[in-house]
Amino acid sequence: MPQAAEQFALEIHADEEAFLKAFPGAVELCDLQGHILLISNAFTDLAGKQPEGTLGKHIAELFAQEFRPAIDEAMAKAAAGRKIKDVRAACLTSRGAPIPVSLGFSLLERAEGGAEFVVVSVRDSTKEQQLAEELNRTQSESESLLAELDEAYQRLKEAQDDLVRRERLAVSSEMAASVAHEIRNPLAIIMMSIQYLHSKLSPGHALREFTSVIVNKVKQLDEITTQLIDYGRPRELKFEARDLHQNLNQVLCLANSKCVAQGVKVIKRYHRGSSKVTCDHGLMDEVFSNLLMNAIQSMPKGGVLTVETQYDQRTNQATIRITDTGCGIPKNVQAQLPKPFFTTKRGGTGLGLAISQRIIDHHQGSLTFTSVTQGAKRGTTFTIKIPITRPQENRSSG
Ligand SMILES: Nc1ncnc2c1ncn2[C@@H]1O[C@H](COP(=O)(O)OP(=O)(O)OP(=O)(O)O)[C@@H](O)[C@H]1O
Ligand SMILES: [Mg+2]
Repeated sequence: MPQAAEQFALEIHADEEAFLKAFPGAVELCDLQGHILLISNAFTDLAGKQPEGTLGKHIAELFAQEFRPAIDEAMAKAAAGRKIKDVRAACLTSRGAPIPVSLGFSLLERAEGGAEFVVVSVRDSTKEQQLAEELNRTQSESESLLAELDEAYQRLKEAQDDLVRRERLAVSSEMAASVAHEIRNPLAIIMMSIQYLHSKLSPGHALREFTSVIVNKVKQLDEITTQLIDYGRPRELKFEARDLHQNLNQVLCLANSKCVAQGVKVIKRYHRGSSKVTCDHGLMDEVFSNLLMNAIQSMPKGGVLTVETQYDQRTNQATIRITDTGCGIPKNVQAQLPKPFFTTKRGGTGLGLAISQRIIDHHQGSLTFTSVTQGAKRGTTFTIKIPITRPQENRSSG
C-alpha cells in the first residue's frame, strides 16, 4: 500500500470502517487521488473476492480499460467537491466476464475536519443494460416493421389507383360509346339530307360551298362517333402466335413518309432470335400506330425515333419500347394520361393512348411511360409489356 493511502487508512475511524463495510450497497472508499482505502462487503459480493494488494491501487484498475478515462475524470471532479452520478463502466470480477455498472462519486467530509475521502458507489446495471438492449432491438424491429408497412401501403395505394383508373376508363368508354351510338342515327339523316340538298344545287351555285363544308364536317363527326363506338365496344380478341417484329415493321413502313418529311431518323433495336408473340396482332398494330404517331408528332423539327424489343422467355414477357427525342410530356399533362379525350393537339381526339391502354389491359400487359421536357435527355419513352404466350389461345374480353 502506498505511503499516503496507509496514512489515510489509519485515519478512518473504526466505526466508519465498520459502517462502510457493512453498507448494503457496493461502495469503495478512496483518497482524493483515487487510491482504494476500503471495499465494502457488498462490493465483494458483486465483483468477487479481490486479490491481495487491491487496497492502495487506483480505483480505475477495478474497471475495464476503456472506462478508465471517464473514472479518472469523475474522480477528479468529486475530489473538487462535485457530486458525480451515473458514470457507466464495466466492473472486473474474479468470476469471469465484467459486469455493467453505474458509478457515483461523492466527497466525504468529516464534521470535525481533517481527512477527506471520496465514496464511490457501484450499482449493478446488468438489468438496465439488458432492458436498454431489448428496447433498442424492439425499436429497430418496430422501425423495420413500420418501413414494411409503409411499403405495403404504397403498393396497395398504387394498386387501388390503378383499379380506379381502369374502372373510370371502362365506365367513360361505355358512356362515350352509348352517346356516340345515339348521335349516329340523326347524323346519318343530316348527311343524307345535306347530300340531297347538295345534289339539287347547280354546280356554280353560291350555296354549294356551304353544303360541301357541311358534308365534310358531318363526315368528320361520323368518323369520331365510329371511333367512340369502337372504343367502348367489347372486343373479341383473336390471339395468334406470330412474329411481332413484322407488325412493327409494317407500322413503321406506313409512317415512313411522315418521318422523311419531318427529318425523323428511325433506329430499330430488335431482339435477336424468336420474336413470336401470341397476341391480337391487329390490335397490337393499333397500339404501335398510336404510339409511333404520338412520337413522330412530338418531333416536328426532326429527331430520333428508337424502337426496341426484348423477349424474356423466363418471365414470359415481351417488352416493346418506343422512344422519341421530342418535346416531352409536361408533368401536368402526364397526370392526365391516358384519360379519354384528353389532348393538347389541334384536331386530336385524345383517344390514342386510352385505346392503347385498353388493348394492353386486355392482353394482361402494362403500358407505362417516362418523359423529360428539358436538357439533353429530352423526349419520351413508352414501354409495353405483354405475355409472350398465353394459357389459352382465345379469350374474349370487354
Ligand atoms: N410521345 C409523346 N410526346 C409528347 N407528348 C405526348 C406523347 N404521347 C402522348 N403525348 C401527349 O398525350 C396527349 C394524349 O395523347 P393521345 O394519343 O391519347 O391523343 P392525341 O395524340 O392528342 O390525339 P389522337 O386521338 O389523335 O391520338 C397528347 O395530346 C400529347 O399531349
Ligand atoms: Mg395520339
